[in-house]
Amino acid sequence: MEKKTIEINITIYQFDELGLEDKKLINNAKDEVHKAYAPYSKFQVGAAIALENGEIVTGNNQENSAYPSGLCAERVAMFYANAKYPNSAPKTLAIAAFTNNEFLLEPITPCGSCRQVLIETEIRFDKKIRILLYGTEYIYLIESVKQLLPLCFEKNSLQG
Ligand code: THU
Repeated sequence: MEKKTIEINITIYQFDELGLEDKKLINNAKDEVHKAYAPYSKFQVGAAIALENGEIVTGNNQENSAYPSGLCAERVAMFYANAKYPNSAPKTLAIAAFTNNEFLLEPITPCGSCRQVLIETEIRFDKKIRILLYGTEYIYLIESVKQLLPLCFEKNSLQG
């Protein structure tokens, strides 16, 4: 028998400590929450992705009366980025969440399905995607999707 420990690394920042590009991307994600369609949960999420070609693609959660048909902000933004710019790798993804008329104090982290979609893109372009998770008290920076999804299922897994 052997035991293995997997560690993930997160850096915690105050907004003021971030570089200009990261601040701008977070502000893009914050702006997006106000366009979310979240009448059921009233939990509005915004995502902004900075691509290698200089474009910024944004998205927000889109809910549905048939609940499982809705989609999270991260997937709306990442699918759109991949659809519109299939040859440009995402560099950084910023996420912000807003409910009860305010942004959350602590960052939210992407759900399991979104992590799976994000890691597909990271592997597809073979480039780490930085993830900025916004909270009003502090911000998490995660250097790669792999950090959020260790032991992931990916295309190499299909080869057995
Ligand atoms: N949601 C996101 O858009 N991103 C997340 O990271 C977590 C959850 C959405 C899905 C649903 O519309 C609402 O937030 C409540 O779960």
